[in-house]
Amino acid sequence: MAGKDRVNEFIQETKRVSEEILKSIDRGMRILLISHLDADGISAAGILGKALIRAGATLSIRIERWMEWRIAEEVSLYAGEDLLPIFTDMGSGYLDILGAKLEKKRIIILDHHQPIGNPRENFLHVNPHLFGIDGSRDISSAGISYFIAKLMDERNSDLAHLAVVGALGDLQDKYEGRRLGGLNDIIVKDSIETGFLNVETDLLLFGRETRPVYKALAYLTNPYIPGISGEEDKCLAFLSSLNISLKENDRWRALRDLSQEEKRKLFSALHDYLISKGFKSDVAMSLIGTVYTLVREEPWTPLRDAREFALLLNATGRMGVPSLGVAVCMGDRKRAYEEALKTLDEYRQMVGKYLAWLSENSDRIEEWEYIYVLHGEKDIDEKTISTISTIISTNLPKPNKPLIAYSFMPKERVIKISARASDFLVKMGVNLGEIIRVAAERCSGIGGGHDIAAGAQIPYEQKMSFLKYVNSLVGECLMGRRNGG
Ligand code: C5P
Ligand code: C5P
Repeated sequence: MAGKDRVNEFIQETKRVSEEILKSIDRGMRILLISHLDADGISAAGILGKALIRAGATLSIRIERWMEWRIAEEVSLYAGEDLLPIFTDMGSGYLDILGAKLEKKRIIILDHHQPIGNPRENFLHVNPHLFGIDGSRDISSAGISYFIAKLMDERNSDLAHLAVVGALGDLQDKYEGRRLGGLNDIIVKDSIETGFLNVETDLLLFGRETRPVYKALAYLTNPYIPGISGEEDKCLAFLSSLNISLKENDRWRALRDLSQEEKRKLFSALHDYLISKGFKSDVAMSLIGTVYTLVREEPWTPLRDAREFALLLNATGRMGVPSLGVAVCMGDRKRAYEEALKTLDEYRQMVGKYLAWLSENSDRIEEWEYIYVLHGEKDIDEKTISTISTIISTNLPKPNKPLIAYSFMPKERVIKISARASDFLVKMGVNLGEIIRVAAERCSGIGGGHDIAAGAQIPYEQKMSFLKYVNSLVGECLMGRRNGG
């Protein structure tokens, strides 16, 4: 983590921005909040939205799938003297686009993506990277928004848990034992102190609040365990053989319902099974990790487990109904929440369908010299390619090649790329955000992101030259001929 001084400088900067926001509200300015459509972007919008409403602001919120010229143009059209645009979870990677369109306008950018270009003097730009803080692991955009919200009004510390959701949505749990660390630590502590969060070490199966245990086991994809992953019947038999009862009254038991003793038994059996299949002990140990429980949410709902909460937000964003996610963050537990639950269901089914399709069509994943390519083409919907890319990337045979997944959007005739690198590659100096940006720009597209996860949109005709160029850039980087990408 960055030195204490740099962290203090970062906090000072968030203070400056919180004061600017309060002053603008006092002057009667309206606020336009523009955020990104994934879990981090939606929770950032929820946190700041709530804080702004509490501060008496007149506010509108827009959620966008990625930064593009159109957005900057539209904002420049609306933005008069009485409107303050605030970008969250987008903007840092596209300072030149914003600069060209919003030349003289006062705007605020709160983002954790790698900054590219130079901000105009009239931009207030808060980004952890500018203070030597790792924006892909130590704080997310929801976290930056939370720091600002808390400085606007101490009461907003009751929003800290939403920043935990945002950070987990962006997979920032990279510290030992799948823990959040760095500046996220402060946010976790605030969430515990305000009585919203409980943190414990436990078996990590996705769906611990909502899925029957056998299903949660069958959904395990990282590690992918032959005879368990995707095999619900075998998981049922596995649990029965351990005398773990599957139902309580008429309700399927979820992982949350198992006693410590039952969880110990289950872990030890999984451990032995993995070893018998040739896995190393540390793979089995990766099934244990840090669980973040939102204790004020109803048990057995996706909002109770912070990782499931993040998936729900992501689902609303990807399925084109992000306002539902924002409303849930801002406290709705009625109509928007009911709708969001349905959307989550549809999204899960969609992702499941594409994963099943991919296992039948494994030739769609090609191994190139330095990269893996997942040719989603028009067979994998653009809404799910990000999630599919994350899941597939954790199961590739070689960790020394990043995954470049894409899907084709026929209406716009562009391909949407979702690229993922392993921790190993990042340690080797591969910076995917930089590689994808450079390759996208060369192929008439735009792209960027983090060292570990990046994305781009490029014209369909440029697809092969883009992939070949990325392949060669990764190769150069691994051979030390390119610095960081
Ligand atoms: O735009 P943003 O930063 O919020 O999104 C990051 C994306 O990268 C998320 O969709 C997250 O799932 C993905 N990611 C990943 N592996 C990481 C970090 C992020 O797949 N280690
Ligand atoms: O869409 P996906 O989750 O794959 O994006 C991975 C990361 O790359 C995200 O952090 C996203 O915000 C970023 N990205 C970007 N510019 C793009 C597309 C994606 O910075 N044009």
